[in-house]
Amino acid sequence: MDTQLHAALSRALSGVPHQELRRRADALSHRYRTEQVDDTTPGMSDALDALAYAVVRMPATFRALHTALAAVERHVDGPLTSHLDLGGGTGAAAWAAAAHWPGLATEIVERQPAAVRLGQKLAGGNFPHDWRWTTADLRTWTASGSVDLITIGYVLNELTADARRDLVHRTTHHAQTIVVVEPGTPRGHARTLEARALLIARGFRIAAPCPHQLDCPVDWCHFATRLPRTELHRVLKDGTRNFEDEKFTYVVATRHPVRPPGARVIARPARPKNRVVLDLCTSAGAAEQVVVPKSSPAYRTARRMTWGDAW
Ligand SMILES: C[S@@+](CC[C@H](N)C(=O)[O-])C[C@H]1O[C@@H](n2cnc3c(N)ncnc32)[C@H](O)[C@@H]1O
Repeated sequence: MDTQLHAALSRALSGVPHQELRRRADALSHRYRTEQVDDTTPGMSDALDALAYAVVRMPATFRALHTALAAVERHVDGPLTSHLDLGGGTGAAAWAAAAHWPGLATEIVERQPAAVRLGQKLAGGNFPHDWRWTTADLRTWTASGSVDLITIGYVLNELTADARRDLVHRTTHHAQTIVVVEPGTPRGHARTLEARALLIARGFRIAAPCPHQLDCPVDWCHFATRLPRTELHRVLKDGTRNFEDEKFTYVVATRHPVRPPGARVIARPARPKNRVVLDLCTSAGAAEQVVVPKSSPAYRTARRMTWGDAW
């Protein structure tokens, strides 16, 4: 799927002046990094902004959403045939969901027409089922029916506190499973926790990443997914590394039965000689560090653990 997305982005870029696009990408990155995007200042406002977003951000948001949706597959017991993606941008969550459930019926709601047009172009010919795109403002838009899954990827940070709460509340009437993904910053974590609390109050159970329904025991829970930096990326982004780590926070909440892990690895494991050190969030709602020595039967499993895995 990463390869297909990359090919679609390359096609969309062809013939577009790189210098102007690079300028847009820089401005966009600055707006997002400094969290200057809100209800009145959109992140992207025309076709060139949408293309800059898709090239510099979409491969990373796709990866983060893909990881969060893998947790749905693993920890939620329930059917999944319909999907609504809110603030879908150029379609990252729809791509990620299609990678997990190829026959899924997806509707994407997004307020920027330029993002919708580009999203349609990128998806074109890549998926057997057409997605439904709706151009609307989430603050006033109302869902007509119910779906199995709602995703809200990197959107809450663009809404005011009231609009965020209202959106999360409304989703609880329209889906069995709700996935929120936010940037992996302390503020992103705070927004994810706020959504988590609202969802628990509405009778949802947390399926991931938390192995418990209690208060979060850490100040800043986040994860990272590594993605290759392609030639395309390097055209628009500084840096010589051939990979980047996308940091994100997420929560999967559901009305279905959950299969939570015993614990979750919440930092990159350390592997000093003859042992593995794992930072865990446990089913008792505690943050705990575990040292697994080479002599332990669990050592081989611990060696394979990565940040974000279930333990
Ligand atoms: C950072 S982008 C994320 C896009 C996509 N979900 C992803 O993960 O790549 C945030 C998206 O939310 C959309 N958005 C923000 N506020 C919105 C609103 N009130 N109504 C509809 N869309 C909104 C923006 O236009 C933008 O496309």
